[in-house]
Order: sequence, then structure tokens, then C-alpha cells
Amino acid sequence: MSVKLNNRYVKDFIRDDELLAMNAEVKAAHELVMNRSGKGADFLGWLDLPENYDKEEFARIKSAASKIQKNCNVFVVIGIGGSYLGARAAIEFVKSPRYNEIKKDTPDIYFAGCDLSSSAMRELLDICEGKDVCINVISKSGKTTEPALAFRIFRELLEKKYGEEGAKDRIFVTTDKTRGKLKELSDGKGYETFVVPDDVGGRYSVLTAVGMLPIAVAGCDIDAMMKGAADARAEYTTVSDLTGNDCYKYAAYRNLLYRKGKKTEIFVGYDNYLAMLAEWWKQLYGESEGKDGKGIFPASVMFTTDLHSLGQIIQQGERTIFETVLDVQNRRDEIIIPNDPLNLDELNFLSGKNMSYVNRTAFKATALAHVDGGVPNLVLELDGRSEYDFGYMVYFYELACAISGYILGVNPFDQPGVEAYKNNMYALLGKPGEEHDARRAELAGRI
Ligand code: PA5
Repeated sequence: MSVKLNNRYVKDFIRDDELLAMNAEVKAAHELVMNRSGKGADFLGWLDLPENYDKEEFARIKSAASKIQKNCNVFVVIGIGGSYLGARAAIEFVKSPRYNEIKKDTPDIYFAGCDLSSSAMRELLDICEGKDVCINVISKSGKTTEPALAFRIFRELLEKKYGEEGAKDRIFVTTDKTRGKLKELSDGKGYETFVVPDDVGGRYSVLTAVGMLPIAVAGCDIDAMMKGAADARAEYTTVSDLTGNDCYKYAAYRNLLYRKGKKTEIFVGYDNYLAMLAEWWKQLYGESEGKDGKGIFPASVMFTTDLHSLGQIIQQGERTIFETVLDVQNRRDEIIIPNDPLNLDELNFLSGKNMSYVNRTAFKATALAHVDGGVPNLVLELDGRSEYDFGYMVYFYELACAISGYILGVNPFDQPGVEAYKNNMYALLGKPGEEHDARRAELAGRI
């Protein structure tokens, strides 16, 4: 088993009988997912994806990845939200948060179209100067402003540098199978396209072509990743009773804690390669549960770094938070602490020990301190940081999110709230259309 829930540090807050009393709600949520009878059931494509994925497309992804690896030294991935976070999380988790700096025979990978920062774009264009560049634009709708603007800029760059024909071989598009302006443009220009399945929402899409192409370009074993997800599916979807299902226990504990006033969940990592994974997790849970005036606010910290900043408020601030630690058990890298004859820092009692031993001890010490301070800690124990572990964990989090959302009574698969800012922005930017004109007039008096 790759993900195991350790409830040692939550027992002071949730009794075993309270957890067991959740069984009926968990089973009801399980039925809604498995029978595809809950809200948003049209977006359950991720559920069987690890078995049912398009094998022909998967093979195309691998050959596109090796073509990209051969043809460029800079690969720019353009996308935002669910069309961005999963790939970046995977590459940083499996390879390194410093992927571009490590010794490797794969291209440097940069992400664009995930903001509207002209400074970030300027820097990236400068980085691309004199380099061979390929791009992958990813947008399910094909009309999201941030990636659409970035794509315009990079398409122009590639067409100027390589000509229309040359650019065609360097532009890879991941979008809807048949619909949307991006699909239309790609067909017209002859770009190779990959599919965001209709029944998979952005934040559940990392194991589709959305994540798989960039992840494969980074040199990750995407077969192992899918195998991990398939094994998690076999492990967690077959047992509806929460006593035998750690994924469902996580969903149940979250809801119990929420009902006891714990309104913020902090994802805790003790290694920086988890930082982007935390960003992916925040989108998954925030967008899935935060609606109808409900939802646990998902936050994240990387310890021990953040113990020296946010540690104070976690220890002694308003008691409305709980933490979920992702505890990666098997460390890849061991650094032995040297002996220092001067011992001015008085740390010679650690000489000869692994740094990871100190880090793990920091984790235990912090969990105990936070529990004493009134902060429940859930611990998810993950075997390691391989591709297999990543796929397994992604599936665990996705399924737990769906179950948790149904227990909460929301549709875990829609995101109506994200339209509000977009509509205002379109109006203020002068997008043509009567609805934008009316909104513009209304907003003008308020800013
Ligand atoms: O989860 C989601 O649906 C969103 O985060 C989208 O992925 C994001 O808005 C990007 O949308 P699109 O892929 O249509 O450009």
C-alpha cells in the first residue's frame, strides 16, 4: 500500500466512535460516486481513467515527448489552473523543484500562461533567446485569457524563428477533442493535438494528456505513474467501509474536523519538492468544496522553513485549523552531518546522523507541539517519491476529494465561482458584447 493514514495525532480531537459513526455518510458518498448518481456525475471520467485511458494516445504522447526531447532545449508549457498545476507538481515531486538546474539529458521546462505578469513573460522570452524551443499549449476550453495570450506570443516567436512549417512541428496542443477555437486553429495549422476528455475537469486531469506530455518530456516514467493510479483505484474503490479504506477515512476526518470548527486545512510538507504538489492539492480541494457558503479553506506550508514564519500563528492563533502532513517515508538522498572540532554551534551531538533523521524528528516534535496547541494533525504516509507513488497519491487525493465533497453536500466537480472575476475583467478590458457593455457601465461607478 502506498498511502496510509496515521491517526495518532488526531485522536485527542476525534474519538474512534465519532469516526465510525461517519460510516453511513461515507457509504452513501461511495454509492454516489460508484453509481454515478451524485451532482456533477458527468465529470467522473478520472475514476476509471487509470484502466480506461486511451492507449493509442498514450503511445503518441511518448513519441511526441521523445521528439520534443530531441528537437529543443527549452520546452514551454502554457496553461493555467488544472491545465498547469498537475504537470508541474509531478515534475518537481519526481525530479526536483530545481529540475532546470539539475544535470539531465531532457529539455529545460518553463511554465507560461499561468499568470498575466509581463515581467515573467519578458524573462522567459529572454531565456528563449538563441535556444531551440517547443511548446505545449493546454486549455480544455481553448479560450482562457492567460494561456491564450501566452500562446499568441509564443506562436509568433516560433513562426518568426522557424517559419510556419517549422513552427508546426514544435507546437503541441492539448484541448477538447472536437470543440473550441484552439482545436479549430490546430486543425487549420496542422498541429499535433491531444485530448482533454469531456468527462474530466481541469483539476482532475493530471493523468490525462494534460499532465502526461510535459511529465514525459521531463523524462518521467508515465507507465509507472498510471500503474500507481490503477493500483490505488483497485485499493480504494472496492471497499466502501471506512474502517478498511484510508482514503475514505481521510474524507471522513476532514468533515468531522470541519464540523468541530476547524475551517482551514493546512497541507504540510517537510521537503520543498512537495511545494507544487501542495498547490495542486489546494486547487483540487478549494475548487471542489468551496461553494454554497461551505468548504474547508486549503492552505499549505513547507516545514521547517515555515515554522520560522507561520509556525507562531499555527501554534497559538485562532483555533480553527488542522494540518495534514504528507509524510514521505523513504528518502532518496542522505546527507551525513559532519563533526566539527570547534563545536561552536554545540551541534556535535548530531555528528554522523542523517539530515533526514533531524527532519523526521522535527516533524514528530512539531506534530506534538501543534496537538498540544489545539491543532489536530492527520498524517498521510507515502512510500516514496517515484512516478508510481505520485500516480497512487494523485488517485488517493482525487477520490478522497470526491467523497469528502459529497459528504459536505456540494457538487465536487463544478466551479461556477471562477466566472465572476472573468466577467468583470472582460467588461473592464472592453470585450465586445452587450453583456460586457452593461457590466462595464455598472462597474465603472465602483472603481
Ligand atoms: O479546474 C479547472 O477547471 C480550472 O482550473 C481550469 O483548469 C483552468 O481555468 C484552465 O481552464 P482551461 O483548461 O479551459 O484553459
